[in-house]
Amino acid sequence: MAQVKSRQRVEEHGEVFTNEREVNAMLDLVKQETERIDSRFLEPACGDGNFLSEVLRRKLAAVSKRYGRSQFDYERYAFVAVSSIYGVDIMQDNVEECRDRLFRLVDKAYTRKFKDDCRTEFRESVRYLLNENILCGDALTLTTNNGNPIVFPEWSLVSGGKVKRRDYTFDSMLNASTDAPTFDMVVNLEVDSEDARKAIPTPVKEYPLASFLEVAKHE
Ligand SMILES: C[S@@+](CC[C@H](N)C(=O)[O-])C[C@H]1O[C@@H](n2cnc3c(N)ncnc32)[C@H](O)[C@@H]1O
Repeated sequence: MAQVKSRQRVEEHGEVFTNEREVNAMLDLVKQETERIDSRFLEPACGDGNFLSEVLRRKLAAVSKRYGRSQFDYERYAFVAVSSIYGVDIMQDNVEECRDRLFRLVDKAYTRKFKDDCRTEFRESVRYLLNENILCGDALTLTTNNGNPIVFPEWSLVSGGKVKRRDYTFDSMLNASTDAPTFDMVVNLEVDSEDARKAIPTPVKEYPLASFLEVAKHE
């Protein structure tokens, strides 16, 4: 993958992609978090997902190792792995490339493992998660390109195959106290110190429980 798409994009958006060696070296500094299936990672200027794809690759390896013997467990925990990955980029083409790249990663691992038994609903859920979690917007103003606040879903696997979704503004998640919905790891961004992060955010929307295979029908 080239590190630069065009000189104009470098000048206007500082778009220089990080190479694989550096991505791995940085992620190795927080190795345990990258292998924890539910650690919540945010890359606020994600480009086409150089960091997020490596985090997802590591999480999926952990899912396969721990839950690979049961297809249902594999699907549930791969859902958790994807649902805890978040990205924002100001360029729509980067956002789409990032979503596609993460989808292909899951699809390849899933297909290799379960071949003809793979389920369309699982793939649809993964697609849906990526559309909701990887968003186009400005990570400095925390708004979408049409000026609305960026809103991220928080996904929690409750019991069996049920999932609870609550939506929070990006702003409230970044400033949340640590026992509230927040990110475990933020790539390349300073977040406020623990002391400043006192607020417990309230969701802007809550959804009824739904099967992890049916979140796309959740509205
Ligand atoms: C230096 S590149 C890094 C991309 C990726 N994180 C990587 O390491 O390969 C910066 C990225 O930030 C995006 N970007 C620039 N300004 C931004 C902003 N205000 N909000 C969100 N993304 C932005 C660019 O489109 C570009 O993809």
